[in-house]
Amino acid sequence: MDHREFYDKDIVSIRDLTREQIELILDLSEEMIPYARGEKKTHTLDGRILGNLFFEPSTRTRLSFESAAHRLGADVIDVSQMSMTSIAKGETLADTIRMVDTYCDVIVLRHPHEGAARLAAKFSENPVINAGDGAGSHPTQTLLDLFTMRREKGSLDGLNIVLVGDLKYGRTVHSLADALTMFGAKLTFVAPESLQMPADIMEHLKAKGCNPVQTDDLESTIADADVLYVTRIQRERFPDPAEYSKVAGTYRIDNAMLREARNDAIVMHPLPRIDEIAPEVDGTEHAKYFEQAFNGIPVRMALLCSILGGEI
Ligand code: CP
Repeated sequence: MDHREFYDKDIVSIRDLTREQIELILDLSEEMIPYARGEKKTHTLDGRILGNLFFEPSTRTRLSFESAAHRLGADVIDVSQMSMTSIAKGETLADTIRMVDTYCDVIVLRHPHEGAARLAAKFSENPVINAGDGAGSHPTQTLLDLFTMRREKGSLDGLNIVLVGDLKYGRTVHSLADALTMFGAKLTFVAPESLQMPADIMEHLKAKGCNPVQTDDLESTIADADVLYVTRIQRERFPDPAEYSKVAGTYRIDNAMLREARNDAIVMHPLPRIDEIAPEVDGTEHAKYFEQAFNGIPVRMALLCSILGGEI
């Protein structure tokens, strides 16, 4: 098995990948690091075009896909607002995808509706990469999260991982929890009861032999954690702003809290953060969220290179 088996493949859900396939991408991501930093050059995707369709706000995912494509020699076409496309005139997503498909070689789609990437993959001849579909999933974020954990902890096997915050609407934690079960992780889910992991994901995890602990007490989980994966409360997904107000600011990691943590425990966050990690944590050895964001470039380079048939 090598990375060529990803040729022309959609990446819609992390559940579409096996542990071996994930490891292949992580291994290739290691090789991509000097290219991602601009220390080595490649034109392996010369003449190929990435179509970046972002129908929800993004800084990291959109720009790191763009940077990854350029680092590999590919070109990028993009839109970042539905109002700037003919969707504003009533065109369906299916027709939009059919058109964009003819203008590029791979489509990267972020969309507010769960299931949008699966639908796009159905209507596109070229591969589609899910860059986040509503409160659904975010598989490329998971790959860079796993890459970060493996680099920082040496191995993914058997890590004690605490997922904190908005586990109901947070798509990054949905995909990450699925993937971590493949590596025998011990999972603890910390959230207010109203924002705990959805029942269908809990059932899936249990069917895979993982039995996460669920609690609302963050402090009780800190001492044993290898990884504290903190997430933002997803204000934009709450149907009722009053419900958001009830849970906003529930958890905040600061240096006093981290005094209880192991010296080698790491703090991750998919970003953007609001107030769930105090800025004072940024200067500690625990903070890995900015490295995590950089890791989006080598990981997305590895994916694009594999899907579009490049060679390094
Ligand atoms: N982590 C993440 O998806 O960030 P953006 O929303 O900025 O892309």
